[in-house]
Amino acid sequence: MTENLPVVAVIGGTGAEGAGLAARWVRAGYRVIVGSRNTDNAVEAAAAIGAEGMDNAAAVAACDIAVLTVPYSAQRATLTGLREGLQGKILVDVTVPLVPPKVMRVQLPEEGCAALIAQAVLGNDVRVVSAFQNVSAGHLKDPDYVIDCDVLITGDHPEARAEVVKLATAAGLNGVEAGPLDNAVAAEAMTSLLIWMNRKYKSPGAGIRITALPPENED
Ligand SMILES: NC(=O)c1ccc[n+]([C@@H]2O[C@H](COP(=O)([O-])OP(=O)(O)OC[C@H]3O[C@@H](n4cnc5c(N)ncnc54)[C@H](OP(=O)(O)O)[C@@H]3O)[C@@H](O)[C@H]2O)c1
Repeated sequence: MTENLPVVAVIGGTGAEGAGLAARWVRAGYRVIVGSRNTDNAVEAAAAIGAEGMDNAAAVAACDIAVLTVPYSAQRATLTGLREGLQGKILVDVTVPLVPPKVMRVQLPEEGCAALIAQAVLGNDVRVVSAFQNVSAGHLKDPDYVIDCDVLITGDHPEARAEVVKLATAAGLNGVEAGPLDNAVAAEAMTSLLIWMNRKYKSPGAGIRITALPPENED
């Protein structure tokens, strides 16, 4: 079943968000590599979900699509270290530029947003796509849980965005293309609103829904 599917590496896949996405992609038949700074941790986390585990650089080397799920504070250094291996590939950036302790307040970086930082660090030969910022790790971790949430997918390369729509579908989500990478700022900013709503309304993980799209774009 994996024959026609891209190989996906989840950088920081030992963490909450990455592990949940990785587990769902394994279930959908993708070959998934969990990446970590520590190979033993990668192998352990991967074994729990039926994936492979490697250090981050080896995971990038072995993949077609890399998905970055590390904290914002580690985003720039992690991508700088992986820059060479990512050339020619798709990098899906899940980073939300949260600045603790005020995570319920939108605090955007000078560069505009995290996805634009990723593109600037990696250069134009890496197709950066931004996605999954508004999907709670708490929901992802139960693979049987049906997540009532759209995924905004932005990037400057239509074919790369389309690959990420497929990844969203495979994870049990509804991917909605939302334009160029500049637009990633909206999805990244939205996460602080959702965290605020989680507290206000005692939600386990608020998400977003885009309305009035043609039926084929709604699940
Ligand atoms: N949690 C959510 O509900 C959620 C929802 C939407 C988006 N996101 C975004 O997804 C990303 C990951 O979130 P998370 O909650 O999964 O984070 P996390 O569990 O705190 O960290 C994920 C992984 O990042 C790696 N990491 C941590 N510090 C690092 C450092 N200094 N340098 C390099 N790697 C480091 C660790 O992997 P190793 O130690 O194995 O290398 C860790 O397991 C964040 O940008 C977050 O904003 C999270």
